[in-house]
Amino acid sequence: MHLQLDGNGPLHAQLTRALKAAMRSGLVAGSRLPATRQLARELGMSRNTVMAAYEQLRAEGFIEGRVGSGSYIAASLPRARPPAQPVEGSIAPQSAFARRMRECHQGFGGVVAEGVLHAFQCGEPMTNPMLTTVWARELSRAAQYTAPGYAPIRGLPALREATCDYLARRRGVHARPEDVLIVAGTQQAIALIADVLVDPGDLVAIEEPHYPAIRKVLQSHGARMHTTTVDHEGLVCAALPEGGAKLVCVTPSHQFPTGAVMSLQRRMELLDYASRHDAWIFEDDYDGEFRYDGKPLAALRSLDDHNRVIYVGTFSKAVSPTIRLGYLIMPPQLQRDFTSAKWMSDFSSPGVEQAALAQFIDNGGFERHLRRSAQVLKERRRVLIDGLRACGRGRLLIEDSRAGMHFVVWFPGRSDAEVATLVEHARRARLGLYSIAPLYLRPCGRAGLVMGYGGMSVAEIEQALVLFERCLDEIFPVSAKPLPRRPAQRPTRRSRHGRSRASSGSR
Ligand SMILES: Cc1ncc(COP(=O)(O)O)c(C=O)c1O
Repeated sequence: MHLQLDGNGPLHAQLTRALKAAMRSGLVAGSRLPATRQLARELGMSRNTVMAAYEQLRAEGFIEGRVGSGSYIAASLPRARPPAQPVEGSIAPQSAFARRMRECHQGFGGVVAEGVLHAFQCGEPMTNPMLTTVWARELSRAAQYTAPGYAPIRGLPALREATCDYLARRRGVHARPEDVLIVAGTQQAIALIADVLVDPGDLVAIEEPHYPAIRKVLQSHGARMHTTTVDHEGLVCAALPEGGAKLVCVTPSHQFPTGAVMSLQRRMELLDYASRHDAWIFEDDYDGEFRYDGKPLAALRSLDDHNRVIYVGTFSKAVSPTIRLGYLIMPPQLQRDFTSAKWMSDFSSPGVEQAALAQFIDNGGFERHLRRSAQVLKERRRVLIDGLRACGRGRLLIEDSRAGMHFVVWFPGRSDAEVATLVEHARRARLGLYSIAPLYLRPCGRAGLVMGYGGMSVAEIEQALVLFERCLDEIFPVSAKPLPRRPAQRPTRRSRHGRSRASSGSR
């Protein structure tokens, strides 16, 4: 019998109250109570205490004794009505923040649909059993020597130093350990950026299309969003708000989701815009470590002479989103505010995971893992692109970005509604497809899919392609609607690998 004692007053009185509550809420009238000896043993109290409680309940008419056959709950005892269970979201928002959150965040999209066999889901981590083994070893080692207190607010010095070394080697970013703030992924980084920089009504420029999770955090802080076109050179700086924005959010190394790499010219224009308008730039370098054609381009932060760029990287793609670790390189003039915001949010990120990661970077395991992963991802990408080319037969255009774990496939001449039908049809065939439409704040006039392949093996990609082709044939039969001519399209380029590359124009 589960009884909750309230800790107030003598034990027999506590037991009396607990038994009354149990009888009211759940026990059936007329049913037998446990024998006093048994209940005393279960609760670890004396039998006299239990007998005193039963005596009191009998005196108040809650229980009836039948000589020789124990104590029974009174047949006449009215049962309390269980309290009504509030319906989710049935209350008006209790704060302006909650109201804004409800307005901008209707659902947790992008989750793998139930019952799906394969899903081309973006954001899925790369499956790698070897990493699991190595990570388990690093964690258990770190658990043994990590101090049990709270980690420092900005992060463990060892991880901040390892991050600086890594960024200098791989991303051309030169930062000091004191510039680094270890955060719970990009998602916490943008929340802290919003805390430190954004007041309700402030204008924030984001790329269109973009990663909605970031936009929603900004909107829930009351930011006004200015969507800015991207083309094959990344963000179109001429389309930024003329009067200046407080903050510009960009993914220059690998535009999300189109994959465009921001040209040097545009990078310089953006930095110039920031210094002319006193704007801040949030550089989201979410998967800059995976490039398949040569050296990754240095980060935008490496060109920033005026300390306007807030550079953010994450270990979600390179290791796993489950560790919830990333870093924010703070401009010196904002360090105090960012450190306070982090303290307000969660004091600090978990120490054991930080120590394990620092060790993983220092002993070279991390970069070895990145090199191997890049090979694996390159092969997965090749198989997917070849498969899509083979089954597309003029129905789709691949926006073949040469980095990360996803790319975009456009369906020229098709509408969002038609692509939604394809997605729904695929779901019924147990294939997860993801429309690009939710990554736009405003309708864009082009329909497409974001194809994530990081979490699928080559064999899974091949099986998924069979399902994909079947769905494509059923929903967009080859003869039903030929590809319209697109005069605005740039000429097709031949890549080093002999594959053609289609790029989008300005949207
Ligand atoms: C554009 C972009 N930024 C950041 C992230 C990673 O977020 P986090 O570090 O919070 O896991 C993702 C994940 O898919 C992303 O697509």
